[in-house]
Amino acid sequence: MPRPLPLLTLAISLVLLASTTTVNAHNITRILAKHPQFSTFNHYLTVTHLAAEINRRQTITVLALDNAAMSSLLSKQLSVYTLRNVLSLHVLVDYFGTRKLHQITNGTEVTATMFQATGSAPGASGYVNITDLNGGKVAFGAEDNDGKLDAVYVKSLEEIPYNISILQISQPLNSAEAEAPTAAPTLNVTAILSNQGCKAFSDLLIASGAHTTFEENVDGGLTVFCPTDPVINGFMPKYKNLTAPQKVSLLLYHGIPIYQSLQMLKTSNGIMNTLATNGANKYDFTVQNDGEVVTLETKVTTATITGTVKDEEPLVVYKINKVLLPRELFKAAPEKKAPAPKGEKEVADGPNADAPSDESNDQTADNDNGVHKMGGGRLAVVAPSFFFGVVMFFLFD
Ligand SMILES: *[C@@H]1O[C@H](CO)[C@@H](O)[C@H](O)[C@H]1NC(C)=O
Ligand SMILES: *[C@@H]1O[C@H](CO)[C@@H](O)[C@H](O)[C@H]1NC(C)=O
Ligand SMILES: *[C@@H]1O[C@H](CO)[C@@H](O)[C@H](O)[C@H]1NC(C)=O
Ligand SMILES: *[C@@H]1O[C@H](CO)[C@@H](O)[C@H](O)[C@H]1NC(C)=O
Ligand SMILES: *[C@@H]1O[C@H](CO)[C@@H](O)[C@H](O)[C@H]1NC(C)=O
Ligand SMILES: *[C@@H]1O[C@H](CO)[C@@H](O)[C@H](O)[C@H]1NC(C)=O
Repeated sequence: MPRPLPLLTLAISLVLLASTTTVNAHNITRILAKHPQFSTFNHYLTVTHLAAEINRRQTITVLALDNAAMSSLLSKQLSVYTLRNVLSLHVLVDYFGTRKLHQITNGTEVTATMFQATGSAPGASGYVNITDLNGGKVAFGAEDNDGKLDAVYVKSLEEIPYNISILQISQPLNSAEAEAPTAAPTLNVTAILSNQGCKAFSDLLIASGAHTTFEENVDGGLTVFCPTDPVINGFMPKYKNLTAPQKVSLLLYHGIPIYQSLQMLKTSNGIMNTLATNGANKYDFTVQNDGEVVTLETKVTTATITGTVKDEEPLVVYKINKVLLPRELFKAAPEKKAPAPKGEKEVADGPNADAPSDESNDQTADNDNGVHKMGGGRLAVVAPSFFFGVVMFFLFD
């Protein structure tokens, strides 16, 4: 049966290319690692997921705080979400090298920050005033700080014109708006899924109760692989054959408890544990990429990422073209000798090798008897796994 796979692959490549112009020109974590007196600042850029935002931006200035300045900020005991706002006020969405700081027209300027860019900053908050003072000093202050300029420029840590500039300032910038208590972001996984061609998957999550595990993992970082509606619909006869705990395991198999951008997936090929991973029940799969095309290989089937539904760290949701079948629940395909060339039909040995397969969900390897009976309800409670050192998020010590 001829299939237009090369074309499809090309189309997918183009889509992925178009949707991810995240060619990281810089890596703030790596740059700051060279400056141990900024280790706390660096740590919290990672914890608040701002590092990834900074790396994504082309033209940016980071107003860095050394460990002493950070400890005065941390003594305010802000929640991690509020701290994210405060730190994002220290990231200017424009390039200011040392020279430009001293050449500000009329000696004063107001510039937008990443806090302003989030849309959570009302009015003038989210802007920073930069003013050249006597004696070559440069002062910085948040706009919502009654005209008070709290901090002064100390030194330049790194300048890569006009991509990223990292400048040390003397004090944290005070801003009532940035420091206002912030609720955790409301990323509603099931709502996000149901709006984007993933309604069938979302409905299964809710019906099975698996959605709570997904929701519990969002804050610490979560990647969801959603088989699209036609794929799920084609899979329903097999799904219905699973016991309730097996259904939950299968659904949890579609989430990994860590945020993985497409770029990260492409550069970290290898075995991934999932939300279904639980001790001896590995429920893992292998991430592979061929150029821009990222595939997920279970021992039973290979799915391809066909699009991004949502990428808002700590949550990312991808569409995939097949249901991921874990070998813990479905019969494994025979051992592959070498990575199959792109577009090759997946092989299934035995009497069902020619079993009819539908277009949208071509899962030839799981034959009708493929559902392994897994000792009763042993899998009923599948705790979210915390592999990968996931929950750095709450490291408030
Ligand atoms: C700045 O970023 C652009 C785009 O990512 C990149 O091509 C260029 O090499 C970077 N410049 C430097 C000096 O690293
Ligand atoms: C940035 O550098 C850090 C430390 O070297 C590394 O762990 C991280 O994976 C890098 N991030 C990217 C997006 O390459
Ligand atoms: C600089 O000051 C002059 C005179 O006050 C004003 O006309 C001009 O608009 C100012 N330029 C900027 C960029 O603020
Ligand atoms: C920046 O703040 C200083 C001090 O409050 C003020 O004099 C100046 O006008 C401000 N600059 C701008 C562009 O608003
Ligand atoms: C998420 O959205 C769904 C559907 O819109 C809603 O029923 C559910 O209550 C929401 N969950 C949370 C935790 O807000
Ligand atoms: C469901 O299980 C029954 C009994 O084991 C089997 O006869 C049937 O073919 C299975 N259906 C599917 C779609 O796997």
